Amino acid sequence: MRASTPFACPGRCARRGAAGQSTGIEGEQLGAGPGVLTHRRAAYFQDASDASPSLALGQAKLLERPSVDTRRSAGGHKCERRVTTERQQQTPYLEALCEYAERQPARLHVPGHKGGPGADPGMLRAFGERAVSLDIPALTHGIDVGVDPTPFEQAQRLAAEAWGAKRAWFLINGASQGNLAAGLALAHYGSEVVIQRNAHSSAIDALVLSGLRPTFAAPEVDPELGIAHCLTAQSLERALEATPSAVAAWVISPTYFGAVADVAALAAVAHARGVPLVVDEAWGAHMAFHEELPDHALSLGADLVISSTHKIVGSLTQSAMLHLGHGADGPGGAGLIGEDTVDRAVTLTESTSPNSLLCGSLDAARRQAAVHGRELLGKTMAALAKAREQIRGIEGLDVLDDRLAGRPGVFAYDPLRLAVDVRGVAASGYELAPMLREIDDINLELYGQNVLVAVFGLGERGLPEAARLVAALRTAVARVGLDPVGAGASFAAAPPWGELVMTPREAYLGAQEVVPAAQAAGRIAAESLATYPPGIPNVLPGERLTAETLAYVQNTLELGGSVRGASDRLLHTVRVVVEK
Ligand SMILES: Cc1ncc(COP(=O)(O)O)c(C=O)c1O
Repeated sequence: MRASTPFACPGRCARRGAAGQSTGIEGEQLGAGPGVLTHRRAAYFQDASDASPSLALGQAKLLERPSVDTRRSAGGHKCERRVTTERQQQTPYLEALCEYAERQPARLHVPGHKGGPGADPGMLRAFGERAVSLDIPALTHGIDVGVDPTPFEQAQRLAAEAWGAKRAWFLINGASQGNLAAGLALAHYGSEVVIQRNAHSSAIDALVLSGLRPTFAAPEVDPELGIAHCLTAQSLERALEATPSAVAAWVISPTYFGAVADVAALAAVAHARGVPLVVDEAWGAHMAFHEELPDHALSLGADLVISSTHKIVGSLTQSAMLHLGHGADGPGGAGLIGEDTVDRAVTLTESTSPNSLLCGSLDAARRQAAVHGRELLGKTMAALAKAREQIRGIEGLDVLDDRLAGRPGVFAYDPLRLAVDVRGVAASGYELAPMLREIDDINLELYGQNVLVAVFGLGERGLPEAARLVAALRTAVARVGLDPVGAGASFAAAPPWGELVMTPREAYLGAQEVVPAAQAAGRIAAESLATYPPGIPNVLPGERLTAETLAYVQNTLELGGSVRGASDRLLHTVRVVVEK
């Protein structure tokens, strides 16, 4: 018996899961198969750093079943908080990787570095020998092939249990892959979809790949802040009414700025029309682990949830998860969205060589969130509350916080983002961000004309970074001074989007030409223009370009932002459709 290493990696993706049929969270599935404990020389033991007694998965499933407690959210929706079980202390996939590396097998397989001997010494020094030794390919016996459920399958099932999903898929190409897979899965059911306009650019890429014709539902725009919040149930209702053949409703919650949608109401609207609710919860993977955080989408009836586990929960960059809700293809929502369909779409959108470090980090991050998340999040939230108070105390600055809740399109607020409203100082966010870098090497997640967004992770116990941010903001504001008129100014709102003349796929794949941006107004875009951050498309393939939008994108570039999706990142030219 040996203790597991302090990190874990849940393995290869859908193509593995496809073999293991059952992916539910019930104990009998988690521990299924007498071979689980015999084909390996030891049962899976929890990390030595965890105080509670070691327990094999098979034993765990006999001793306990996941329990839940319930509470009511601000809006009165009943939700579930899953109570940590002993088996959540385990990291079967990470453990299997470690076991493989430690026994020094003959690695007559890829990758060419052979776990270390073939690696460049500089890479070994930088990454550490251990990390390179754990870079183990897919289809390795005892890790993701062998007796079912393999450690990889077990790890995914633990993730499903932790988030309350029917099934969870590990993704190795971020939540972006989750959006691509969602689009491809939905295209099996029809050709139209209702989608929130401020979808991430990867969701728009999903429209290009899938051929789905979108009906865009406008999010609420904050009249004071000028930023897009979430979709209301009424807006979704109207969009679905206008799109009777829609195969799904696809929304975003939380937003980049921390606004959380009334997912229960959105789910009710979608389900009343017999379509699944897909929630891009890229920014909300942590919300399942603390009762003071807004309820997470799966607990409120979402059917397919895209989760960017790396963003706040802390798996390695590019690792993410896709969760299927319990009602999605079960008795309550028969046929809304099928597990096998999603599985196939995940496979289609991933490499055949999924990175074991990414997957292992998902296994580990799941354990940390499930076992220690409540405590860690509690500390982070307390430190952030203090930082918010201090920033509010700096003249000229304000912060976005739960005062937003209750505004149209904001059901609740996720406090893990620290969004600073800089309208009251005599410098834009574009000017302040480099200043903060220069003052104390402060590197932000996002900045725009009127807002700076700092992101905090689940495991930031002491949060010295928050104190650094506050101090640097104080210095920066003292340097630039106040803007007495700016305090009343609103966030720059993007202009209305142009008419959708053809599907994103038709425009993307059709005959195209490149024209000077100055001559592009009135043409049909063949590419997206999404000012970035935060990557929300201003123009989508298939839409008619307007002079106003082109000027807005150009202005963002001049202010120091960037544009994603454009073939000419400086927007001197635009790729447009050749109209017959
Ligand atoms: C709403 C939303 N969805 C999806 C993504 C893509 O996430 P990832 O970077 O994990 O691919 C992002 C990234 O910022 C996002 O904001």
